[in-house]
Formats: sequence, C-alpha cells, structure tokens
Amino acid sequence: MSMGSDMYRQQILDHYKNPRNYGEIEDPTYTHVGENPMCGDEIAVDVVLDDGEIEQVAFRGDGCAISQASASMLSEQLTGASVEELVEMDRDDVIEMLGVDISPMRVKCAVLAEKVAQDGYEIYQGEKEDVDTTTVE
Ligand code: FES
Repeated sequence: MSMGSDMYRQQILDHYKNPRNYGEIEDPTYTHVGENPMCGDEIAVDVVLDDGEIEQVAFRGDGCAISQASASMLSEQLTGASVEELVEMDRDDVIEMLGVDISPMRVKCAVLAEKVAQDGYEIYQGEKEDVDTTTVE
C-alpha cells in the first residue's frame, strides 16, 4: 500500500467516525432517500438550493464505512458548488473523491449518496419520474 492511499484510508475512517453534515435540514429544497439493495443500507439526503447554488447539504442513515464516508465527503464537496457540478458527477468522480481503489462490489456503497442527491434533484426538477427510493445499481 502506498503512503498516498494510506492517507486516503485515514480520511475515509475519519469521515466515517465523524461524519460532516450528518443530520436533517428543517426546510430543504428537496429531500431524497436511496438504498443499496445488496445490503439494505439507506441514506437520506437534504439539499438547500439558492439560485443554482448548493447552499447546504445534510445526510443521515445507516451504512458501511465507504457509504457513510462518501456521503460525508460529498456533503462537503457540494456545499457551495453549483447544481451543474452535482448533475455532472459520475461514479468516477466519486471514486476520485474517495481516493482509494473500490472493488466492483463496493462501488454501489461509494456512489449511494451521490445517486440520491442527483436523483433527488432531477425529481425536484421534474426531469425524472418520482420514486420514493433510489436504488443503486
Ligand atoms: Fe451497505 Fe456499503 S455495505 S452501503
């Protein structure tokens, strides 16, 4: 293991143990929920938008270290970003954000929060059919 990936592993553990923006926003622009059907883990994401900018992000739920750390890191990355950044994010961006190799099995864990935030936005915009729960595949 290189020193670089060790640093990223520490960062993932830190986000897992001390998740940033964990909780609920009282009056968000949108809320959405998603689950990883492989394990049943669920994450809810609240987002506050202001004029095309992401003002605030919160998440809550249960999941493995990768899914929880990914949600925490995503919440930091998206706060202050434009909605375009969220819309354009894909799994490669999430893996890059995490900074570690993700096995194919764990990719669903890694992208869960990102998919929930993105789907929630598209449903809010009326661009996607409303579903109660997004499932990662
Ligand atoms: Fe459930 Fe990772 S094992 S989200």
